[in-house]
Amino acid sequence: MPSLLQFLPSPTKRAPMGALPLLLVAALAFAGPQPAAAAGPPAAAAPVVTSTTAASMTLDALAEAHGRYFGSATDNPELSDAAYTATLGSEFGQITPGNSMKWDTIEPQQGQFNFAKGDAVVDFAQQHGQSIHAHNLVWHSQLPSWVSALPTGQVRAAMENHITTEAGHYKGEVYAWDVVNEPFNDDGTYRTDAFYNAMGTAYIGDALRTAHAADPGAELYINDYNIEGSGAKADAMYRLVSQLKADGVPIDGVGFQTHLAVQYGFPSGMRANLQRFADLGLDVAVTELDVRVQLPADAAKSATQSDYYRQVVEACLGVARCVGITVWDYTDKYSWVPSTFPGQGSACLYDENLQPKAAYDAVRAALGGGSGGGDDGGGGGTGNSALLVQYRNNDQNATDNQIKPGLRLVNTGGGAVDLSTVTLRYWFTADDPGGSPAATFDTWCDYAVIGCGTVTHRVAAASGSPAGADHYLEVGFSSGSLAAGASTGDIQLRLNKTGWTAFDESDDYSRTTGASYADAPRITAYLGGALAYGIEP
Ligand code: G3I
Repeated sequence: MPSLLQFLPSPTKRAPMGALPLLLVAALAFAGPQPAAAAGPPAAAAPVVTSTTAASMTLDALAEAHGRYFGSATDNPELSDAAYTATLGSEFGQITPGNSMKWDTIEPQQGQFNFAKGDAVVDFAQQHGQSIHAHNLVWHSQLPSWVSALPTGQVRAAMENHITTEAGHYKGEVYAWDVVNEPFNDDGTYRTDAFYNAMGTAYIGDALRTAHAADPGAELYINDYNIEGSGAKADAMYRLVSQLKADGVPIDGVGFQTHLAVQYGFPSGMRANLQRFADLGLDVAVTELDVRVQLPADAAKSATQSDYYRQVVEACLGVARCVGITVWDYTDKYSWVPSTFPGQGSACLYDENLQPKAAYDAVRAALGGGSGGGDDGGGGGTGNSALLVQYRNNDQNATDNQIKPGLRLVNTGGGAVDLSTVTLRYWFTADDPGGSPAATFDTWCDYAVIGCGTVTHRVAAASGSPAGADHYLEVGFSSGSLAAGASTGDIQLRLNKTGWTAFDESDDYSRTTGASYADAPRITAYLGGALAYGIEP
């Protein structure tokens, strides 16, 4: 059984979920993804978050049920917009100041520090029980001209003084710092900014050490964009943080900004990429998420945007050390995109009128929550009690002795579904050479957002032994109700033959090799015993 501390970013530092009630923290010890044992009974059941409960939970509460936070960037001018702050203060558990703590705001002239804007954001967050991921200390942009004009011999002292003064001012107030922001060009070479020109790559370690000395309790991050998927820039960041760890430099996390655009495709292998950084002993976080489209937006772009948001959430939930997701402001009303990319926009979860969009629903569903009423611009649901099954393969080895499907059931209809009337079938072959006596099976639920205690599972022989499917894993639910638009969230299942002989899954009817959730018409769903989704073998 994993300990509570495994689900907090670092046992020795401040947790990101500042207002987390103790009982919920305790529950989170059971709620995080649970590594499947090679054999034996499933781990203790996760706490039951019913779909009815989930439908009324905030994004942050849904994320907290996975041991993560869900946050938003904000900025000072917006804090006087009461309609905006009402949602900012309630839906999100973490705040990143979009501009208020940058060098040009904090120290516009050398040695003259002005913390008023940063303090205002901290005050807002504290009043709303939100943690602060502070942003940022060392960056080539929004850097006052006096820094770039310094003789190279004076840059280190100026940088260290800036870090010491600012991180010292916010000591104890912020959960994390983006100490170094965007050190790389897109090809993975280092940016030749004032800091690099003065100190070479040594400025990065120096900045981290200086920040650690100023606020030893803060999680220290390097943050960049276009490192979400595999590629030269991600590889460069990986080499950098590997070296920093090897050198004993205080670094705790890597921030993946995740400014996506539907026209450029989704970053390849995001989950695996996050995981390799986590495997270095670092936290990872999605720090500045938005997904822009070329205007005007339409239903197709909106659908792709929703899908990208969903994939980002799933990538984070799929990596135990991904501590949270922050959107780069939650509403198109205050998005940075249109002024930077003319002709593009509509990048946020809420529209300019502060109404949730389809992307918001996609995030909710990916977090295991119900519909929040987002407008998909393309019509409503598909009727009462429509079911959708999504699947991912949690075991890429097709010839070992276990089968590990990940399943999610989504209610795409307009009314609630009584889960006790629903069953799902994952079709596979037993690959039982002797066949006499016929294979028997053990089945396990290793983890379920709704709690394994409500998930039933068994293997049955398929009548007629259709190709690729002489058996099926049948999954049901002992109780619960799935609200319109809601998802059960991740259900991690596992089965083996009692004799532990190997399978050959390569020809199994329901199996794909997809490691991320996707619609799965070869996994069938039944309502009251009648086929409600998918195609039987
Ligand atoms: O404060 C001045 C105001 O006085 C002036 O009237 C106005 C005129 O344009 O400009 C204001 O400054 C703007 C500033 O945001 C504050 O609103 C700058 O022009 C504008 O360039 C600046 O944009 C910020 C951008 O960083 C600068 O690179 C965005 O708001 C901010 O969201 C964005 O955030 C960055 C992250 O820090 C790092 N990752 C990328 C992300 C998006 O670019």
